Amino acid sequence: MSLVDNSTSISFLIDGEEIPFVKGQSILQAALAAGKYIPHLCYHPEFKPNGSCKLCTVKINGRPGASCITQAEAGLSVESDTPEINDKRRTLLQMLLVEGNHFCPSCEKSGNCMLQALAYDLGVMSPHFPQIFPVRLVDASHSDILLDFNRCILCEICVRASDEVDHKNVFAFSGRGITKHLIVNAESGRLADTDFLATDKAAQVCPVGVILPKRMGFTIPIGRRKFDERPISEQMEKVADAAGIAIRESSP
Ligand code: FES
Repeated sequence: MSLVDNSTSISFLIDGEEIPFVKGQSILQAALAAGKYIPHLCYHPEFKPNGSCKLCTVKINGRPGASCITQAEAGLSVESDTPEINDKRRTLLQMLLVEGNHFCPSCEKSGNCMLQALAYDLGVMSPHFPQIFPVRLVDASHSDILLDFNRCILCEICVRASDEVDHKNVFAFSGRGITKHLIVNAESGRLADTDFLATDKAAQVCPVGVILPKRMGFTIPIGRRKFDERPISEQMEKVADAAGIAIRESSP
């Protein structure tokens, strides 16, 4: 049974633009369905939102809130594309960029990476904060998949995919704050010692370059990849989210 009541179409405003929605949609889902882009990283249309990255934060009737976990309601007045909010989004991106090791020019995900694409789209011109350069290992133990933890942004999309779709719980987080990091479900800590497969949903959804298929590097040259062609904010296409609501967003 659908959780969504499609019989009533009502609306609210984002940046003065009328956005129709159906009961059960979040502000972000309704916006994307209407072709109004709100920057986001940890939201994925096929999994439950977790509200962790805060890139999708908007002002809702004057108060900040994450639009992926806030239900749309008739009559709301939402601000999103404003200098103040975009400035905060740039700061969040800068913090993510210095927390990990993101060497874009040599990264296989360059041009297909949501973090890089959002930084370009929002005009992040420098890291601003001191680089942390954390020491993180690469796990090349699996026969078909490489794990490069240097690029992890803790979006939890692979964790949710492995749990909700693959029913394997291969990925989880360990630690807190600055020490929080992605781990795999094996005593050895090696991906090869889990039941992870390259065909798993979790292998397809990383928005950055952590989970990469082996033997497929640079098949499309940098410069001709998805976000090289057009900014991420212009690349929305219809897919269905976990609740069965049609929205216009491409999965990472
Ligand atoms: Fe909403 Fe990450 S997309 S908090």
